[in-house]
Formats: sequence, structure tokens, C-alpha cells
Amino acid sequence: MMESFLPPPDDWLVAPARAQPGRTVALLGGDGIGPEVTEVAATCMVATGAPLELVRPPHANTFPAESKEICRRADAILFGACDKASIPVLRFLRWELDTFANLRPVMTLPGVPARTGSVGTRLVIVRELSEGLYPSREGELADLNRHWPEFRDRMGRPLPKAGKFALRVITEDAVRRVARCAGELAAARRGRVCVVTKANVLLQTDGLFLEVAREELARFSGVTCDHLYVDDAARRLVTSPERFDVILTSNLFGDILSDVAAEAMGGLAMAPSAALGASNAYFEPVHGSAPDIAGQGVANPSGAILSAAMLLRYLGHSDAARRLIQALVNTIAKGVRTPDLGGSARSQDVCDAVCGFLR
Ligand code: NAI
Ligand code: MG
Repeated sequence: MMESFLPPPDDWLVAPARAQPGRTVALLGGDGIGPEVTEVAATCMVATGAPLELVRPPHANTFPAESKEICRRADAILFGACDKASIPVLRFLRWELDTFANLRPVMTLPGVPARTGSVGTRLVIVRELSEGLYPSREGELADLNRHWPEFRDRMGRPLPKAGKFALRVITEDAVRRVARCAGELAAARRGRVCVVTKANVLLQTDGLFLEVAREELARFSGVTCDHLYVDDAARRLVTSPERFDVILTSNLFGDILSDVAAEAMGGLAMAPSAALGASNAYFEPVHGSAPDIAGQGVANPSGAILSAAMLLRYLGHSDAARRLIQALVNTIAKGVRTPDLGGSARSQDVCDAVCGFLR
């Protein structure tokens, strides 16, 4: 059997060229377990010895303009998770900062057995984060009918008279910029992008997504591009995830596929992410605020710690990123595991063990 291996952080995102490594990091814990895992990740990040300056902009209940300004000026942002209270924070991070490329690495980590028995999985889902079915553009069908009475579906039928609708928006520019990001990433990895759509049904929106993505990816020499329908991709992520390198997909599909892949690889709580824009970037675990375990001190901080490793890599502290990942792997190998991984450790135990390995 192949050994599971430690993927280098250089594999997870292409760091921007900078004259100097970045150092200012804004911490936004958010809701539920968000602040718990963010503080652990921040402590571990500092323990790498990378020269960082942490700032904690106020964001509980309201998210004032000064906090937004601190985030805009920071070199990177580490976010926890949002429930209802921090929705304005998430809106700011995604849509005001226009962080359009959501990178979600999924890998088998030593000591975390994949639920599918897969070993050697090492993929990154690149999720378009600015459009698609999010930000929810919804309304009354009656209103839509009033404005667009001549609309007919592919079967020639008018819209139902009452009910709700959601708009799924795909634009050429948005696909182009995220496809470039997927192409750059693939060029630095194994050179394979799989575009995932439902273009057999969503002929126009996903037809455009696929066409523009193919066109843009064709500009990268050494990068090959194939395509799967999203239902087939979901199945293959469970049966043979190791065949994927980079997956490029739209917003909702990326959201769902990344949970499927993370869970198949050993647990949602392990999964990190980066959201990159032209001038800002924020990093957060894939999981949510986990209200069922919030305040108990048992949340698994691994997804947040690996997000912090992505952040370090983004800032140009690649060696610190590598050591942080290794310290987390050592911690898990030593048996310091939170209940979701079958252990009895608390979040603080994971923090102490990771910092111990970094000393
Ligand atoms: P969730 O990810 O918060 O929780 C799903 C399950 O996984 C729960 O059983 C939870 O206890 C467990 N879990 C999640 N993270 C964990 C961790 N670090 N350690 C141990 N166990 C963990 O998703 P759910 O329950 O669907 O949503 C809860 C809230 O989070 C909702 O308000 C939702 O909107 C929000 N959410 C926010 C996200 C974000 O901030 N980006 C992403 C996903 C959900
Ligand atoms: Mg999600």
C-alpha cells in the first residue's frame, strides 16, 4: 500500500510575488467555535517564529467601518466561522473584498485514515466565490412574471404564477479570472484541471462556465483540462479521489463537493481554505460555527491550523507553513486527537502539542 504523505504547502496555493514577506494578520473569530479555533491557530502560527503582527478588529454584534479598514490594510485575514451574528463579516470578506477564488485543499494526512480507504489524495478544489447561486439573489415569482411575462423554459412553458425563484449568475469575466487562478495552481502542481459543471442541463450558465474555463486553461502550456458533470464528480471524489489534481467549479458545487471530499478524507474539521482576491485574502476552515459543540473547548482546530499554514505560505513564510503542518501531523500521530477524530483531547491540548513540536 502507498504511504500517505505530507503534502507541501507550496502545493496548496501560488503565493503572490512580494518584495518583503507580509506580517500583519487580522483575526476575526466570528461565531460559535470560530473564536476557539481561530485563537488556537493564531497561537500556533506565532509559535512558528514567523515575524507576525496580529490585530483583532472588533466584530461582535456589529462590524464597524474601522474594523473593515483594519482588515483591508492587513496583509491577510484569518477568519473562524459565521452563524447569523457574523453574516456582515462574511459578506464583507467575500463580496466587499471581492475574494473570488476559494482554494480548498483536500488530502490524506498521515494518521488520519480516509473513510474511503483512499491514500495519496492530494487535490485542490478551486471554487468560484463571487457569483453562481450566491450571493442569494432571490424573490417572488409573481414579481419576476410581472417584469418578464414572455419568459419560457426549454419546454416552452411560462413560469408558475406563485412561488420563489433564485438567480444563478455566471459571467465571462468571473470565470476567466478564477480559471486563471486554477491554471496557475495546476501549472505549479501536476498540471491537471478538471472543470466540474452541470452543463448538460444548465446549457447557458454552465455552458458558458465550461467554454470560458477551457479557453482560459488552454493558455497554460503543460496544463491539461478535462470535464465532469457534478454528480459524477461527487461519486468519483468518494471512489477515486487520488485521480484529481485541481478541480475548478462554480460556487454552490464547490461548497458541496468540498464537504464531501473533506469528510471522505477523514473529517470536515480537518479541511482548510483560502479565499483570494486581487488585493486581499482571507483564510478559514471549511467547517461552520458548530453550535452543537460551541463553548465546550472540544472543537478540532486542525482546519483552522492548516488555514493558518496557507496564510503563512501566502505571506511568503513558506518554511514556517511547512513546519506548522508537520507539527500538526506529529500531534495527531502522537494520539492528541479531539473527539471527532476518536480521541478525548481538548482544543487546548492540540494547541499545546503543536506549539511543543514547534519549539
Ligand atoms: P458545521 O460545519 O458548523 O457543523 C457540522 C458538524 O460538524 C457538526 O456536528 C459539528 O459539531 C461538526 N464540526 C464542525 N466543525 C468542527 C470542528 N472544528 N471540530 C469538531 N466538530 C466539528 O455545519 P452546520 O451545522 O451545517 O452549520 C452550523 C452553522 O455554521 C450555520 O449557521 C451555518 O450557516 C454556518 N456555516 C458557516 C460557514 C462559514 O462560516 N464559512 C460554513 C458552513 C456553515
Ligand atoms: Mg460549506
